[in-house]
Amino acid sequence: MKEIIQQLEAKRELARLGGGQKRIAAQHSKGKLTARERIELLLDAGTFEEWDMFVEHRCHDFGMADQTVPGDGVVTGYGMINGRLVFVFSQDFTVLGGSLSEAHAEKICKIMDQALKVGAPVIGLNDSGGARIQEGVASLGGYAEIFQRNVTASGVIPQISLIMGPSAGGAVYSPALTDFIFMVKDSSYMFVTGPEVVKTVTHEDVTAEELGGAITHSTISGVCDLAFDNDVDAIMMLRRFFNYLPLSNREKPPMINGAQRTEEPDYSLDTLVPSNPNQPYDMKELIGKIVDDGEFFELQPDYAKNILIGFARMEGRSIGIVANQPLVLAGCLDIKASIKAARFVRFCDAFNIPVVTLVDVPGFMPGTSQEYGGIIKHGAKLLYAYADCTVPKVTLITRKAYGGAYDVMASKHLRGDVNFAWPSAEIAVMGPKGAVEIIFREEKSDPAKITAREAEYKAKFANPFVAGRRGYIDDVILPHETRKRISRSLAMLKDKVLTNPPRKHGNIPL
Ligand code: HXC
Repeated sequence: MKEIIQQLEAKRELARLGGGQKRIAAQHSKGKLTARERIELLLDAGTFEEWDMFVEHRCHDFGMADQTVPGDGVVTGYGMINGRLVFVFSQDFTVLGGSLSEAHAEKICKIMDQALKVGAPVIGLNDSGGARIQEGVASLGGYAEIFQRNVTASGVIPQISLIMGPSAGGAVYSPALTDFIFMVKDSSYMFVTGPEVVKTVTHEDVTAEELGGAITHSTISGVCDLAFDNDVDAIMMLRRFFNYLPLSNREKPPMINGAQRTEEPDYSLDTLVPSNPNQPYDMKELIGKIVDDGEFFELQPDYAKNILIGFARMEGRSIGIVANQPLVLAGCLDIKASIKAARFVRFCDAFNIPVVTLVDVPGFMPGTSQEYGGIIKHGAKLLYAYADCTVPKVTLITRKAYGGAYDVMASKHLRGDVNFAWPSAEIAVMGPKGAVEIIFREEKSDPAKITAREAEYKAKFANPFVAGRRGYIDDVILPHETRKRISRSLAMLKDKVLTNPPRKHGNIPL
């Protein structure tokens, strides 16, 4: 028995060594951790249960028979994050560049299948040269098996991708199908075709970093939700992020730190909205003042900054926040902002996370670039997402809620459960200037008359009471009591039940 145990230990040791000391040193010299080091950091100490450590590839072509490494370039299994179950795979770049063979794919599929059965999230730590070239179509088939599982699991268990090295070619589509993508700056990149192909086809000179680095995807393309400085930072933040999510769509969001009943007024909110309606203010200040411990886990902070999305807690329970940001483009809705917020609302809805919407929106962004880019369809995504959403929806209008954007931003008409407004709210088809120019066009040449008309329009519409009289606004609340009013609403809505009619699926304007 002693000998057998020794043999087992030797086998395990070989698997743990991956591609060997030299390649591990090379990985470290790039500032990257190994696949196993990453898992160790991600999971609670001592909780990792590894599967398929002895799996090997079955390829004999191109000298591959001599290149078998137990585990075949991916470490898989399950463990705990802050005591909550999670399945994980971590690609090992030291083994044939973390390339995906048929066996490597089978290992990933196995944990995805199990995660779906038990109802627990899957986290993928991606560091791979893509399809294992020596295996040809078997490797492509392996990717497709993963894609299918990504789609089947979508909306059932949360799926998170952390890109910690290369992710190129069709390989990018598995992360793209997951709910969130995080990247590590300088050491990770994602692109469908690399710089050489780009040069050949479009004659553009571009580096891998410019084409698909973390900065590119977190600021220009919006592919990535957050970019971190290094592996350790990324993994630590991922652990924090995980705490906001339920394990599956069968669960309610987790309760952290117990229910904190703080109904303390915050009088600084009474002066947050400037008296000049054209002067911006920072919506993040409002968020920070109403959520537990002022903690807002913002996603995509450097992309479509005119809208804010992210998670926070109220009385200990996770909520999703969507908020117009008056500091950027006056908080108007454009293509990027609509898509960014729509996908977030869909995630919250799929996973029973209430949505709190903070509104200060002058309307949709005008212009040819927006119209040619399809703002009609993209704006409709956000409208669809809110209208389809059945989780608790609490909305607060702080200032402007003009035009179609009023309707879209979780209005009462889209089944908003509780709709509040501050006294500073202006709810109307458009702002006074634009409105007067249209309805009193014949008085345009008389500035005095126009000024009087604007004042008349403002007095009539630049307030929350017209909507209040119709019940579109449930109450006009004092800014300093915002936290109390929203958290009481969420508590009231805790067991809300609302279902859409049976259907195969809706047809969101894609
Ligand atoms: C087999 C691979 C590999 C691959 C890397 N390696 N990628 N082996 N299949 N796809 C091996 C290398 O041969 C090398 O082996 C080791 O991994 C490390 O690679 P290096 O090139 O030395 O590392 P680095 O300089 O850091 O470059 C990393 C890289 C490069 C940029 C990822 O390896 C590369 O361009 N690889 C090919 C990428 C690619 O075209 N993949 C297919 C994409 S298409 P040794 O033994 O020397 O250590 C795709 C289709 C998916 O994935 C379709 C789904 C629908």
